[in-house]
Amino acid sequence: MIRMTTIFATTSSGIEDLAAKEIQEILGKKVYIDGPGRITFNVNKLEEAVRVLYLARLVKRVMLKLAAVSLDGTQNDLKKMYDAVNSSDLSSFLTSKDSFAVRSKRVGKHEYTSIDVSRVTGQAVIDRIIKEKGYRQKVDLDKPDVIFRSYVLYDCFYFALDLTGDTSLERRGYRTEVHLHPASLSPILAACMLRLTGWNGTQVLLDPMCGLGTICIEAACMARKIPAAYLRKSSLQVVKRPPSPSLNLEHVFNELDTKIEWHRKPFIIGSDIKEKYIRGARKHAEKIIVHDTINFNVKKLEDYIIDQQGSIDLIVSNPPYGLRVGHPKKVEAVYHTLFKVAHHLLTDNGKLCIITPHTKLVETLSEKENLPVKHERWVKYGNLNVKIFMCEK
Ligand SMILES: C[S@@+](CC[C@H](N)C(=O)[O-])C[C@H]1O[C@@H](n2cnc3c(N)ncnc32)[C@H](O)[C@@H]1O
Repeated sequence: MIRMTTIFATTSSGIEDLAAKEIQEILGKKVYIDGPGRITFNVNKLEEAVRVLYLARLVKRVMLKLAAVSLDGTQNDLKKMYDAVNSSDLSSFLTSKDSFAVRSKRVGKHEYTSIDVSRVTGQAVIDRIIKEKGYRQKVDLDKPDVIFRSYVLYDCFYFALDLTGDTSLERRGYRTEVHLHPASLSPILAACMLRLTGWNGTQVLLDPMCGLGTICIEAACMARKIPAAYLRKSSLQVVKRPPSPSLNLEHVFNELDTKIEWHRKPFIIGSDIKEKYIRGARKHAEKIIVHDTINFNVKKLEDYIIDQQGSIDLIVSNPPYGLRVGHPKKVEAVYHTLFKVAHHLLTDNGKLCIITPHTKLVETLSEKENLPVKHERWVKYGNLNVKIFMCEK
């Protein structure tokens, strides 16, 4: 048991409000947006942080905030960071046998590099332990027992104990075939699109260009309440190295696992023109045990135009951009077909949600096919700025 602790979580840029809402739903308490891709909230027990780490589909990383200080970008910042870390309450997380590493991230213009930040804050940890416990803490940059994170984000510095580990929560553990596809969607963005459509597991859902099936699989996991980190338990830093001996991880995991609704059979269809992607999608679905509720098949988008009119509630898709997948000239034709198919297949008030950099094209087609845009937002997709559009019939 610990008293009020501040948790620091990261997400994709552009979806902070949705990630904050998701955490709010998990914990039933106020969550704050701290800046681009950053969220904070307070917990009374570390178990609450573990619930977020295990369940949240829109979160990349969960950490325990140990220090924060404002910066001005000059060399003086390094001394400020050293002092903030050196005076933080970090010693209870380290024993004399442990090795540690500081992983740093820096965004903005500063008179120093992220290597400087790691060096200075790492030294502050060592000096603090020498002073308090009388030994020199081992450093291991490859396989540390304890991971601290230093974030220099424009004019703010945060120092935190990592509960997630080196692999972000974006890696769900089911995407074993991801090498097959050059443009597979991040599960976080897939889950974000699904939340925007109001997906609750009772509607009929289609992704007609599903690639390796990320959107369909995230939808099935959401409907069945399969925790986002269900396959990742043993790789979580909080499991490898619990920050407190009183933290009852088994209790949290068992309680949340008993809430999984394996019997639920949401109606989800995924198709793609390429058979090898559908084979990969099926493997992914098997890995996370949702293969019995997703109908994956090889099918051309164009062929949906002869399917039953008004038979689909939600179409959620990540069409080709013509950058990594699909020939640029053919891409426009695919979007025309997608909007035609959506107009034909969707029920009244049915929704089409897509993620794309081709914003002008989508605006034109939404007007042409009478599927007005009801929601739009810019998000970061790797290094690309793309927009999520939600159109409604
Ligand atoms: C950006 S990828 C989708 C990636 C997917 N969201 C995932 O997570 O793996 C676009 C997909 O559209 C498919 N595609 C392109 N043109 C198509 C068409 N005419 N009919 C069906 N699928 C098509 C491609 O094969 C590709 O897998």
